[in-house]
Amino acid sequence: MIKKIASCIGEYKKNTILAPLLMIMEVLMDTMIPYIMASLINKGLSGNGDYNYVVKTGIIMLVMSVLGLAFGMTSGINAAIASTGLAKNLRTALFNKVQLFSFENIDRFSSSSLITRLTSDVTNVQNTFQMIIRMCVRAPLMMVFALIMSFKLNAKLALLFVVAVPVLAVVLYFIITNVHGFFKRMFKEIDNLNNDVQENLLNIRTVKAYVRESYEIDKFERISETIATIAKKAERILVLQMPVMMLVVNVINILLSLIGGKFAIYGDIQVGTLNTMFTYTMQILMSLMMVSFIMVMLVMSIASAERITEVLSEEPTLANKENPVTEVKNGEIRFEHVSFAYEKGEDKDVLRDIDLVINSGETVGIVGGTGSSKSTLVQLIPRLYDVTKGSLKVGGVDVRNYDMKALRDSVSMVLQKNEIFSGTIASNMRWGDKEATYDDIKKALDLSCASEFVDKYEDGYEYKIEQGGTNVSGGQKQRLCIARALLKKPKILILDDSTSAVDMKTDALIREGFKNFIPDTTKIIIAQRISSVMDADKIIVLDEGRVVGLGTHDELYKNNDIYREVYDSQVKGGDDDAA
Ligand SMILES: Nc1ncnc2c1ncn2[C@@H]1O[C@H](COP(=O)(O)OP(=O)(O)OP(=O)(O)O)[C@@H](O)[C@H]1O
Ligand SMILES: [Mg+2]
Repeated sequence: MIKKIASCIGEYKKNTILAPLLMIMEVLMDTMIPYIMASLINKGLSGNGDYNYVVKTGIIMLVMSVLGLAFGMTSGINAAIASTGLAKNLRTALFNKVQLFSFENIDRFSSSSLITRLTSDVTNVQNTFQMIIRMCVRAPLMMVFALIMSFKLNAKLALLFVVAVPVLAVVLYFIITNVHGFFKRMFKEIDNLNNDVQENLLNIRTVKAYVRESYEIDKFERISETIATIAKKAERILVLQMPVMMLVVNVINILLSLIGGKFAIYGDIQVGTLNTMFTYTMQILMSLMMVSFIMVMLVMSIASAERITEVLSEEPTLANKENPVTEVKNGEIRFEHVSFAYEKGEDKDVLRDIDLVINSGETVGIVGGTGSSKSTLVQLIPRLYDVTKGSLKVGGVDVRNYDMKALRDSVSMVLQKNEIFSGTIASNMRWGDKEATYDDIKKALDLSCASEFVDKYEDGYEYKIEQGGTNVSGGQKQRLCIARALLKKPKILILDDSTSAVDMKTDALIREGFKNFIPDTTKIIIAQRISSVMDADKIIVLDEGRVVGLGTHDELYKNNDIYREVYDSQVKGGDDDAA
């Protein structure tokens, strides 16, 4: 895990090394100054005094303070550069990785969890990293240096620390181990909160349509409350940290005063030395406190680091073979005993032994009840998922042997849950073809019957589409998505229920256009309305992942019970006015 994350430091290695080095220098200055102070008081101020010595040492101390400040500042700057750089690299690495993910990979992480990983988890790691390269160096070093210096000043008094440090260490250890569990639980709840907020905001229209606001508010408050309760419990323990530490400091100070005072009276110690011992007490105990603070931070961010590495280590389940085929010859599709399952395990197949030939240029309709695996069947063609058994050939070549980009450029698919992106109509159309001219776009929009409404927009192809395409209607969005798919000039065009929100007359017009203007493209049309596929060369009837009928409308109507039933119910339902 550490290796994976450290590899993202990349070009910020220099800053990552400089920050702790400069910190060492600062600590040196910080611990040397009290030492010099002791001799200033001892030699310069006691007895008959030595003003020259005071000035000289004063200047040295001033220079050291300025140096300490400079070291501290540059260390801080380097740490900030290194940690923000690490965060940037981590985010880029995560984002790039997610772009490589196949549908199967994406199924494994929810998208809101991916968002949390890319945002707050990265920030957690960033903060901790900054802390590690500065404080993790500062705290232990400060303690060691201060201990050495105090032993040098007065070994007998310094023995006090040998007793005090372990006592405090035990107390702090107790606090941390108790707090740890609370923080872990708190982060899990915060995850829940994120998921909840994201789901709510993405689907705010549905929430409103169902008047579920108060339910959603209740749910949110419950999670908020849980987080607050856990945080309160954790803080109740954490607040002990400061008072316990101050108690130890005060006890040591009192002991120092008592014992040190006695030494001073008998001339065993000078006032300056005693004074500096107080400073070291503070430094040593402060560093212990810092260590405990770092531990808490570390514990909190380990969970985040784990979640980041999980994404970084996930292997994309689909990859190009060596020397892949880069040209799709034609739009012929051949399913040879294909089975498919989303999950591993027995009897999880959602497609069973599919054996089909679709010739190049044919129009094929697919019908079947909800959940009969229509979408699953066609998703295999552009290799959005890999077949579990059997082989699927496009243009005579197994899809696994193609270069994925080449395959997907030739197989254009309008997904059932299609989306258009924020931008203009033209920018959305250019997803299909980067270099598309207005003329190309016009042809595609004409063919998908989208020109009919796009031409009415004042700014035409530069009409702005809002995020999620909220400012076009469902049927308009579907037509834009078909146009976008057409712009790829594909050899195979797949429409997964893509005209469900389009009126039947327009639906028929679109199909008529396909027949006349893209006769060589293989067209696969999934539809709930039989009228959408009636005139196809072939119709496939799916039921529970099996092909239970194959033929033209007339053949199926005669021989296939399922097909006849659905058709009759639709015609009788008066749903067939355009057929
Ligand atoms: N990403 C997925 N992970 C796991 N199971 C899935 C996934 N997508 C679909 N399924 C399951 O596979 C089966 C077939 O689903 P599919 O979406 O292919 O049906 P469909 O025929 O397209 O239905 P509809 O007409 O409602 O679009 C269903 O039982 C569904 O629960
Ligand atoms: Mg479907």
